[in-house]
Amino acid sequence: MSSAKSAAKEIAKLRQEIRKHEHLYYVLDEPEISDAKFDKLMNQLKALEAEHPGLVTPDSPTQRVGGVPREGFLTVRHSRAMLSLDNAYSFDELRDFDRRVREGIGRERVDYVCEHKFDGLSISLQYEDGVLARGVTRGDGTTGEDVTLNVKTIRSIPLSVDSGTLKKLKLPREFEVRGEIIMTRKAFEHANRQREEKGERLFANPRNAAAGGVRVLDPAKTALLRLNFFAYSLLVDGRPALKRHADSLAALKQMQFRVCADFAACRSIDDVEKYCERWEEKREKLPYEIDGIVVKVDETAVQAELGHTSKAPRWAIAYKYPARQETTVVNDIIVQVGRTGALTPVALLEPVQVGGVTVSRSTLHNMDEVERLGVQIGDTVLIERAGEVIPHVVKVVKEGKERKKFRVPEKCPECGSRIHKDEEEVAYRCVNAACSAKRKESLLHFAGRHAMNIDGLGEKIVDQLVDSGMVKDVADLYHLKLEPLAELERMAEKSAQNLLDEIEASKKLSLSRLIYALGIRFVGERTGQLLAEHFGSLDALKDASEEQLIEVPEVGPKVAASIAEFFSESANKKLVKRLVEAGLNVKEERKAPKSTRLAGKTFVFTGELSEYSREQAGELVTSHGGKVTSSVSKKTDYVVVGTEPGSKYDKAKSLGVAILDEAAFEKLLGK
Ligand code: IVH
Repeated sequence: MSSAKSAAKEIAKLRQEIRKHEHLYYVLDEPEISDAKFDKLMNQLKALEAEHPGLVTPDSPTQRVGGVPREGFLTVRHSRAMLSLDNAYSFDELRDFDRRVREGIGRERVDYVCEHKFDGLSISLQYEDGVLARGVTRGDGTTGEDVTLNVKTIRSIPLSVDSGTLKKLKLPREFEVRGEIIMTRKAFEHANRQREEKGERLFANPRNAAAGGVRVLDPAKTALLRLNFFAYSLLVDGRPALKRHADSLAALKQMQFRVCADFAACRSIDDVEKYCERWEEKREKLPYEIDGIVVKVDETAVQAELGHTSKAPRWAIAYKYPARQETTVVNDIIVQVGRTGALTPVALLEPVQVGGVTVSRSTLHNMDEVERLGVQIGDTVLIERAGEVIPHVVKVVKEGKERKKFRVPEKCPECGSRIHKDEEEVAYRCVNAACSAKRKESLLHFAGRHAMNIDGLGEKIVDQLVDSGMVKDVADLYHLKLEPLAELERMAEKSAQNLLDEIEASKKLSLSRLIYALGIRFVGERTGQLLAEHFGSLDALKDASEEQLIEVPEVGPKVAASIAEFFSESANKKLVKRLVEAGLNVKEERKAPKSTRLAGKTFVFTGELSEYSREQAGELVTSHGGKVTSSVSKKTDYVVVGTEPGSKYDKAKSLGVAILDEAAFEKLLGK
């Protein structure tokens, strides 16, 4: 056993290292190490702390998921009321706000700060002696619920702020940070994919998911949701800590909180208007959803002078973007058969524009959902589009004059086979293993962006490939020939060749993707990764017993049984064999860098490379210890330019960043 003193030193070192990577990953979105490596650091720390329980502190990264499920939450009073915001729905209303502000303080001109209006749950974080002591929900504004244990699981929330930083910022060790807990689009999709695989009810939107996640009684459940936090206010004794709001945001950033990266100081309401306009379009591209822009008076002395009403401050307003909700009529409800054979009811809608996109169908998920909504054919429903996510039916707003109830078909609408429903499941399934719908869906899943990323293998092509008998399973893809492919509808020689190139390129993708792509029930992306890391090869995974499978982190009996069942089926065994023969990558490249040739170097790619997809090029860089980011800055070391590069190329030139063509990139890799 290590001596107490050296253990303390080792523990401090590990904590610092882990905090650094948490910040890189969860706040800056620029991870430098793999998840496996991160987990390893964490496990080392856990082991040391277990040996030396006296050295455990509440702000240790191991304490993020701690405590046991509780009975309920304590109610806590806020230091100062957590107010709401007044809304502006037009630029006229925004100008009214500006006029009220200027008249209120008798000035010609006021400085504003604009930032995103995050769509989540507001929270107050209280730090004592620099350490996170309490997290409290807004509640009714005066009192909220103590959700400290849940909040601590959110990795973008620092568990402590170091004294050096506080000193530099001239801040006391007692302070409060307020902000919004949100779920990114990616985390939302991930959470819903997992829920779908488990047959659980889906979250309607990221906001509900975040709000629900913070208020569950078991912190381990919150941790699984990968929530995020954006700080928007810094208080000392219930009052703004610094002279200007912009200073607070800058200080919060230094304290390693995540703040709106796109906040802007505006010197007039014209500037504010431009900011709102600019983000109306661009918000679709953000990794999280926003429902508007918050406009705040920058100077805190002016804020104090303006004061607040019982509900909202007079110095801030929320400019709201038009809601992406619309009402329309359900023309029909049909059933789709998924790759697992699950029947999904889908509402066919009278086409309607929702936030600039025409919507004509919406999934109803399963029969329980149809029941819950009480929706029937002919009804008028409210639909909502949350980000990129497929629109969903919120509720029935008017029952149709002639309504028709939807019934689960007795036979599979695709192949006419029997359908069956397990007691404990929500979904009805087609029992026919060879159902062509399953085949089509399996192919689409296999080709998906998160799986083998075969661009160009969309629904139309898959339909033709399956219907013509050219492709019966995913292994057949690797034996396709140019000529028959080029003869398909909507295909020509060039597009057929492109597709073949894409298919060829997919062979090189990681084993974790392949495992996920196989479409084994309950095996999502993350499980695919864990399995690949644990077993190292498809062969080892294929032969693993249920007992061995359960040893993999996060794999429980249900998942293990499903994997074992998959590989025990002779058709699947054959399929796997053929995939191996086709030359797919069936070994996990160890995450440890192949070399450190590119260590510390940051790459940006623009344009198309001839030999590699973006994914492959990225994997190459990381496998040699480098990292890839999406935008060019002074910190970028190399911009790799393919054909038809975008604006990143110009930016690289103007910043004087080294520019590489594909050959130079390969040379750098030592090829
Ligand atoms: S400042 C005194 N800034 O919007 C009010 N709020 O609709 C201070 N919100 O309850 C709030 N993003 O939860 C502020 N950048 C942002 C925000 C934000 C989202 C939430 C906040 C508030 C709600 C009001």
